[in-house]
Amino acid sequence: MVCLGNICRSPMADGLLRKKVQNEGLDIFVDSAGTANYHVGEAPDSRMCQTARESGFPIDDLRARQFVQSDFDQFDLIYAMDSSNYKNIISLARNADDESKVSLILNESHPGKNLNVPDPYYGGEQGFVDVFTMLDEATDIILKKIS
Ligand code: 4NP
Repeated sequence: MVCLGNICRSPMADGLLRKKVQNEGLDIFVDSAGTANYHVGEAPDSRMCQTARESGFPIDDLRARQFVQSDFDQFDLIYAMDSSNYKNIISLARNADDESKVSLILNESHPGKNLNVPDPYYGGEQGFVDVFTMLDEATDIILKKIS
């Protein structure tokens, strides 16, 4: 799960899928990263943490890291939260196999629409709830697909 800062959208997507995978007893490793390094080592944004806790998917323990090229070797599926993240990830791809792992997460719930998960960082509380709702739906579909 990849966004820009790895403190709002991708940790929420990570927390959701991580717990859903665990609940199903699946042996699948889930992680998240940011394309930028602004927040490396930080906990997720307190507003995202609050929404996550209230929804039963706590993410307080996650810490931000930057996406690295070796992530293409570590992961089979790489989900970008928006088209800018998508382009930045693709720019690090070494070959067609790397590129084929990358997709926009909302294309799982809205196939072919190329929708972005809006960045909630500079907005109000509702933005975080909206992000949760979109990612809850998308991760339900991803869970079905990978299980
Ligand atoms: P995220 O949100 O990419 O969903 O983690 C952001 C967090 C921080 C910044 C931008 C987006 N920032 O500019 O610091």
